Amino acid sequence: MRTQVVIVGGGPSGLLLSQLLLKSGIESIVLERKTKDYVLSRIRAGILEQGMLNLMREAGVGDRMDAEGFVHDGTLIAANNETFRIDFVQRTGTPVMVYGQTEVTRDLYEAREKAGGKIVFNTDGVVIHDAKTDAPYVTYTVDGTEHRIDCDFVAGCDGFHGVSRKTIPDSVRSEYEKIYPFGWLGVLSETPPVDDELIYANSPRGFALCSMRNANLSRYYVQCPLTDHVDDWTDAAFWDELKRRIPEEAADKLITGPTIEKSIAPLRSFVTEPMQWGRLFLCGDAAHIVPPTGAKGLNTAASDIHYLYHALKEHYLEGSDEGIDGYSQKALLRIWKAERFSWWMTNLLHRFPDQSDFDLKMQQAQIAFLRDSDAAQTVMAENYVGLPY
Ligand code: APR
Ligand code: PHB
Repeated sequence: MRTQVVIVGGGPSGLLLSQLLLKSGIESIVLERKTKDYVLSRIRAGILEQGMLNLMREAGVGDRMDAEGFVHDGTLIAANNETFRIDFVQRTGTPVMVYGQTEVTRDLYEAREKAGGKIVFNTDGVVIHDAKTDAPYVTYTVDGTEHRIDCDFVAGCDGFHGVSRKTIPDSVRSEYEKIYPFGWLGVLSETPPVDDELIYANSPRGFALCSMRNANLSRYYVQCPLTDHVDDWTDAAFWDELKRRIPEEAADKLITGPTIEKSIAPLRSFVTEPMQWGRLFLCGDAAHIVPPTGAKGLNTAASDIHYLYHALKEHYLEGSDEGIDGYSQKALLRIWKAERFSWWMTNLLHRFPDQSDFDLKMQQAQIAFLRDSDAAQTVMAENYVGLPY
């Protein structure tokens, strides 16, 4: 087979790129290791920056998002038994949208299918060949049958555990990682959200977050030791712990119920450099991971897709490789800023096992500064709503 762009990975990054390229008449084939249902079964975050909203609309996949997503003009920070609000719109003129990543991925699959987009599921043993030439190709098997696709470019959108990053030789790659000494226990419950806006809580018992998916589907998280197992946490234990960590008035009005999903995710910051090697380009989790505290996971993938889509469009429609040659540098500049913000939010709102009394005082002073300083709130708001592309 032959196409212009082979996209390895049928997650939100790969699907969004494929749909955008189609809009510019650029062909692509998506190779996904799992089934569509498996991809859609993964519960992920749900805060969308303006940049991601614009890309979804440009890709012609914004209708349900705009109809069902919640526009949030601000968020709540709770600490030391008090709550204060960060007003994104007052500080930056820009809100965010609450719309689950699962719904984003579902809308993208629907659009790909409607457009007759080529997605190969259940691919095995994907290998990227000759990325350092101008005629790369990708081989893989499906049900034991070998396949080969010749192409011009390969987009590695296959997440942290994919093959694309590992295709770049160790001698060329630099990796930066920080593992946090705790995880997030997250639950989904068919209950009304405790508040109209998200509550990020720093409590003596650790971090907690109150989020939502829709008017009767809520998402809650509590910081937990990495040694914990989901089975250690009954629903009752979860609700009880959450109530102890959020402001009293929220705890009093919290509506609890049976959880329909419960999982523990480790927290890590990770970046690989460079994000391109010859005609192979890394996007999203294949190149970088952020702790979820800043809600930057999908939004950093979106800016990668924005830069690569425009670079490929420039190559095919204008015959210029300026974007192609500058992709990694441009993407990494924004990625490192999002990494810094996610690391800062994580340090601000979590309790660390080895935190000294002085460290705790520093954390409390940071929170007090954020509460009392317009400039600090504007800096947080600018980063939360998304830095310019
Ligand atoms: N061959 C084909 N497909 C693969 C391979 C492989 N070797 N390895 C992984 N994949 C597929 C996975 O099954 C998955 O569906 O690539 C897809 C990668 O999707 P994601 O992990 O969702 O990564 P990405 O599309 O970059 O989305 C980033 O996901 O984890 C969240 O917080 C993150 O929100 C961010 C978003
Ligand atoms: C979520 O809704 O799952 C969510 C929201 C904000 C975060 C992380 C997760 O920072």
